[in-house]
Amino acid sequence: MDKIKKFNEDGFYIAKSIIPISLHQELFLAFYDLVTSMVNRYKIKLDFKFKDIEDINYPHDINELDRLLFAVSDFKRDLIGELYDTIAYCSAFLKLVSYPEIEKTARQLLSLKSYSTIYSTTHRIRMDEPNDVKRRAGWHQEIFHTYPDTRFIQTWAPVIRDSTVENGTIEVCQKSHLNGVVDQIWEDEKGGGYAHRILVKDEIVKNHKEIKLPMKLGDVMLFNPHLIHRSGYNSSKEIRYSQVGMWNDCSHQGFRTPKPEFISRTFSPKKNYDKHMEILKKQ
Ligand SMILES: [Fe+2]
Repeated sequence: MDKIKKFNEDGFYIAKSIIPISLHQELFLAFYDLVTSMVNRYKIKLDFKFKDIEDINYPHDINELDRLLFAVSDFKRDLIGELYDTIAYCSAFLKLVSYPEIEKTARQLLSLKSYSTIYSTTHRIRMDEPNDVKRRAGWHQEIFHTYPDTRFIQTWAPVIRDSTVENGTIEVCQKSHLNGVVDQIWEDEKGGGYAHRILVKDEIVKNHKEIKLPMKLGDVMLFNPHLIHRSGYNSSKEIRYSQVGMWNDCSHQGFRTPKPEFISRTFSPKKNYDKHMEILKKQ
């Protein structure tokens, strides 16, 4: 099959126009709804008036969403992290993640049967702000950003708007997947908002041709865990929204399901219980 041949040769495959724009519209509305709730919840002062969600138009008003996100980010950066976690499990995003054409293509490229179970890990939507270097992903291989001894395929796709060279679309080192695991540096999270990184050494990157991969809304890229890749630099004035995630082959010998961990952002279930019991006692 052509698709598999191309995937094996290049280390990636871009499935063109497989996601309906209506799903991106749904995600846009989910983002808009969540961000306006945040503005109201925290009484964030804005120097502009935002449109009611009932009057918002997609794609015309994407900049309206950007503007609100910039305001929330300026108010408290942690809230963007909370939004990122919210979108990850909201119904609109789960629809995108599990869209049948992505599922089918992932199975094909993993050479799995149509009934083989594939398991999602860390499907998220990145929001990359203009000129950001602190959270920009440097050259890396996905293999160390997941669990040991897993067989998986990585997905990447523009969300809400196209990904362009200007807004920092994904970049890859040509045919770098053919070399397997390469020498890299583990960098723990450092102060000042810098993200944790596992970076491929420069002398290895230098040996490859770097390719930038702009994509149209609806396209989905699937790639090999060894393909060296990074976020481009967002030199535009807009946010780059992109979907990232992994589909794991559950039939792989070494596959062990990670334990999901959901930690309350406020207080623990035990504290919540204690609080309620205290109220009862006082009655
Ligand atoms: Fe990555």
